[in-house]
Amino acid sequence: MTVDALAGAAYIVAALLFILSLAGLSRHESARSGVLFGISGMTIALLATIGLTVANAWTTGAFLGLGLLVVVIAVGAAIGLWRARVVEMTGMPELIALLHSFVGLAAVLVGWNGYLAHPEIPAELAGIHNAEVFIGIFIGGVTFTGSIVAYLKLSAKISSKPLMLPGKNVLNVLALVAFLVLTVWFVIDQQLGLLVAVTLLSFALGWHLVASIGGGDMPVVVSMLNSYSGWAAAAAGFLLNNDLLIVTGALVGSSGAYLSYVMCKAMNRSFLSVIAGGFGIVAQASSDAEDGEHREITAEGAAEMLTAAKSVVITPGYGMAVAHAQYPVADLVSRLRERGVDVRFGIHPVAGRLPGHMNVLLAEAKVPYDIVLSMEEVNDDLASTSVVLVIGANDTVNPAAAEDPGSPIAGMPVLRVWEAENVIVFKRSMAAGYAGVQNPLFFRDNAQMLFGDAKQKVEDIIAAL
Ligand code: TAP
Repeated sequence: MTVDALAGAAYIVAALLFILSLAGLSRHESARSGVLFGISGMTIALLATIGLTVANAWTTGAFLGLGLLVVVIAVGAAIGLWRARVVEMTGMPELIALLHSFVGLAAVLVGWNGYLAHPEIPAELAGIHNAEVFIGIFIGGVTFTGSIVAYLKLSAKISSKPLMLPGKNVLNVLALVAFLVLTVWFVIDQQLGLLVAVTLLSFALGWHLVASIGGGDMPVVVSMLNSYSGWAAAAAGFLLNNDLLIVTGALVGSSGAYLSYVMCKAMNRSFLSVIAGGFGIVAQASSDAEDGEHREITAEGAAEMLTAAKSVVITPGYGMAVAHAQYPVADLVSRLRERGVDVRFGIHPVAGRLPGHMNVLLAEAKVPYDIVLSMEEVNDDLASTSVVLVIGANDTVNPAAAEDPGSPIAGMPVLRVWEAENVIVFKRSMAAGYAGVQNPLFFRDNAQMLFGDAKQKVEDIIAAL
């Protein structure tokens, strides 16, 4: 059997392992095996690629490629290991956005290489090859700059407010039309200037698409860029004639697109409007009408209220992740349950900064899965709940989304915590949440603020209990 055939077989096994990995990752219980399938698939894919390069160097004497491969694997692995070790759970989304930008950049470079290396292509396939070069560079370029803007927004290096250029929708449509015209032109006449033009056009469009999307819609953007990075990888796979890259890219592209669709449904947003860079979304002034006096409660007061409660629902958010409060929260839950209090969690689909963020933290702290419910499962029970503990959540419990049509998060489904008998909000100040919107919940008669670091405050409550 030739090395090529062996590598081909290894690629099929790797592709199957990636499919099993996606299937495993879709449920808590099987997520660990999903990750193991993914690692195994990637190891096989890497070994097969290294094997191919070694065999190629052996037969042709071209050892430069082999040397380069060793260097890039060493550098990439060292940087990857270092970043993965030091990244905080709360920094994961921006790291993922940055990684997507690498996939985009790689696709742009592969596209340029496909032009500059002058590969020998049969005349009847030249048109297809040239279109692949052009499309690969375009998708890669949009992914590259779009992911950089997402990284800057998620790490708060630039404002998360949507950029509202005059005629922004027309600009996006014009960019797409220009891309189509340039593609046809390039297929007919392969001028270097056209490649430069499409590269710059894609960079500008990627930047503009993501810059136009506001804070509350960023979760959808991250999964959408995930999808784009998959299509960029698939485009690179066509150029490199690499089946595994095509299959893997298509898997990432389609699963990312489906995740974006599911998240749009959960956030009551139009899928098309978000992928078109906030197409049709017009910034509105929030009325911010409801504010006024807020009331405060101490940890001792909260402990007293919890002891007297029949039922408690905890709605965690980004602040719980920042404070690493999941461990004392798990401890508080088991103590309350020992006392016969019915305690459950209500998880908003975009609580925190990445899909499933809260579920991962609670699983880490060994909270039983059966009391961790989704927003839909818990929302109708909130009105008959004695106490809701809002731990580091803000946008996901904001009544303005349901009641103020002028709010930037209007229409986004939220946990209706304000319907409960009592609400205790754990946060450090009166500051707004990720979307930068004032939260009228804090001024409701049944709400009280427990100021301070969430971990410290939960520990204080446990001490008081
Ligand atoms: P946010 O609206 O982000 O609010 C978190 C709150 O936690 C803040 O108001 C902050 O108030 C508080 N906080 C921060 N550190 C704390 C600490 N150490 N102790 C106590 N409180 C602390 O949270 P959310 O309700 O989870 O909403 C998530 C938001 O992120 C949504 O707008 C969503 O669209 C967006 N987003 C989500 C994702 C995904 S996929 N989940 C991705 C990107 C963006 P103080 O500063 O006053 O303490």
